Amino acid sequence: MERTFVAIKPDGVKRGLIGEIIKRFEQKSYKITALKMLNVTPEMAAKHYEEHYGKPFYPRLIKFITLAPVVAMAIEGENAIAGVRHIVGATNPDNADVGTIRADFSSLASTNLIHASDSLESAKRELAIYFNENEYCSDYKTMFELIQDDLNRE
Ligand code: CMP
Repeated sequence: MERTFVAIKPDGVKRGLIGEIIKRFEQKSYKITALKMLNVTPEMAAKHYEEHYGKPFYPRLIKFITLAPVVAMAIEGENAIAGVRHIVGATNPDNADVGTIRADFSSLASTNLIHASDSLESAKRELAIYFNENEYCSDYKTMFELIQDDLNRE
């Protein structure tokens, strides 16, 4: 089981796409175990995007993620890191597969609606920027988990 980090960026919030985006993860049977709306501070933004420091698009990236609220989530499931990124689509919406969030709702890499961690290490690091340990609600069972329990019962 993997836990990954997803953030609906300011363009997704301002365009009223929060529900549409969350729906796609729920309908895939992933488990949302933490969820909140927040204003990202410049300090949080710098930590989140530290790997992009020095790139030409870095200043606008920091400006953009701090412009308006984001919706941060922890999502859990089997191979959730790759699976969630598959649903999200390629960074540049022009290259994203039809049916992915970015292909369906976005047309520019700079305003591509959503961020999802690209590895286990990134997920751990990014989740720690946005959530404290006591904010996770992993104790409930989704219908998908209950079906797996039924299937695995001797
Ligand atoms: P994200 O998944 O949040 O990770 C880094 C972000 O940088 C990326 O999505 C894009 O929104 C943003 N970005 C802006 N310009 C570029 C660019 N030219 N190449 C890659 N990422 C870019």
